[in-house]
Amino acid sequence: MDGPAAAGKTTTCLALARTFGLRYLESGRTYRIIAFEALQREIPVDDAREITWLCDRLILESRSAGLLTSERYASDKLRETPVNVAVSAVAKIADVRRRVTSLIRLWAESQTQCVIEGRDIGTTIFPAALVKFYLTASPEVRAMRRVRQERAGTYENVLKDVIRRDDADMNRTVSPLVAAEDAIRIDTTNLTIEQVMSRMSTACRDRGLEVIRS
Ligand code: CDP
Repeated sequence: MDGPAAAGKTTTCLALARTFGLRYLESGRTYRIIAFEALQREIPVDDAREITWLCDRLILESRSAGLLTSERYASDKLRETPVNVAVSAVAKIADVRRRVTSLIRLWAESQTQCVIEGRDIGTTIFPAALVKFYLTASPEVRAMRRVRQERAGTYENVLKDVIRRDDADMNRTVSPLVAAEDAIRIDTTNLTIEQVMSRMSTACRDRGLEVIRS
């Protein structure tokens, strides 16, 4: 599942994981952990060499794919404004993306079936995925949802951040955010979670996934 910030990926991925008995991975968390550690250690986030080095150290410390699922970091810390800003710089470093891509593939190999959310899952990491979704919504609706969900910041500031990150994610050179040609696109601007889930569940069933919990 790919799509821009606050499009509803996490909520729907978790619901799909529950319905179809899939393991779930939030790939953005890894980029956030690297950005968070860079800020803690005062490493400039636009220094590609230093950040790649940091990424290697974090991978070593957490024993490879452990970095993806590390619970050492509280989600609210990873979602603070400085991390939101730094993560865009970290995510455009090609060597960092290569490493995170390898970790995700390694993790997925050890799962029977899984659902992964991010920005380049259907385009770069798993171009042959069984089902691909590209979830989107207007920036205004996404900002409103995030303010309600996280109660962090004013609507105006969250909207600015959403637009800034969309721009950074869509216009970077390496693995820019774009819908895979064969992705099912869902614009959730005027849809309820139930309506989105109903479309997604139908698509998953059509491709042979079995419902284990309705
Ligand atoms: O939850 P939200 O949609 O706000 O963001 P996230 O999924 O936590 O991702 C944070 C940032 O990580 C994004 O803005 C991207 O810059 C980067 N990211 C990426 O480049 N590729 C991915 N597969 C996942 C996240």
